[in-house]
Amino acid sequence: MQKKPFEKRLAGPNFELHQPTTSISRATELYDILVRNDYFYPERLSFKSFKSPEDCMILFNKRLVEIRKGDSMYYDIVQEKDGGYVQVGEIYAKGIDRKNMAVNNIGYFVDIDKRGNGIAPGAVNLLTAKLFEMGFHRLCLYCEVSNHASKKVAEKSQFEYEGTKRDFVYDPYAKKFWTVDMYAKLAKGNNL
Ligand SMILES: CC(C)(COP(=O)(O)OP(=O)(O)OC[C@H]1O[C@@H](n2cnc3c(N)ncnc32)[C@H](O)[C@@H]1OP(=O)(O)O)[C@@H](O)C(=O)NCCC(=O)NCCS
Repeated sequence: MQKKPFEKRLAGPNFELHQPTTSISRATELYDILVRNDYFYPERLSFKSFKSPEDCMILFNKRLVEIRKGDSMYYDIVQEKDGGYVQVGEIYAKGIDRKNMAVNNIGYFVDIDKRGNGIAPGAVNLLTAKLFEMGFHRLCLYCEVSNHASKKVAEKSQFEYEGTKRDFVYDPYAKKFWTVDMYAKLAKGNNL
């Protein structure tokens, strides 16, 4: 039987993963989410200086460069609403290391009103399956040590705790370093 194209399967029971588009309406949507949420987001440090949807457009353009270079992948987590889609979160894979077939930083975010419904673990499972299908062998993610919800997501997605990296991320706004727990998941076999 012919294999279904992967992109057709990037959908969970209560969400879908869409490739992001770069437009001012998308930037406005993301900006609204940032305002509504607690700003704990992939680029959470730089988000603290975001003052308008135009700042989100600058971010999208930076991301496009990363995507084109093959360094990162980004997906909007969306749900159907009124015949269209609304963004309820985001998932990304950064630090793509093709030499070692590794992805060094998977991150995710779910809108504050939508949390607790298993959306993030579902999205991690979809992205993980896609990355393994693309031939990656080792996938890694980091959770700030007190971020219990994120650690739950890692565990529910069968990532294993590999250790704690002390003072791993510097936060210039809080003027402190963050300590993170590292989780990783390996492909079965060597995936070559
Ligand atoms: C971490 C995060 C992505 C989890 O997404 P999610 O779709 O809510 O994931 P789940 O539904 O599996 O919930 C995970 C845990 O969050 C906690 N949780 C449940 N409902 C919650 C709610 N309404 N609000 C906050 N946390 C909740 C629970 O501990 C839950 O684990 P449990 O199901 O074993 O009880 C989400 O809380 C978030 O976006 N946080 C801010 C951004 C962030 O920290 N990202 C990770 C950094 S890489």
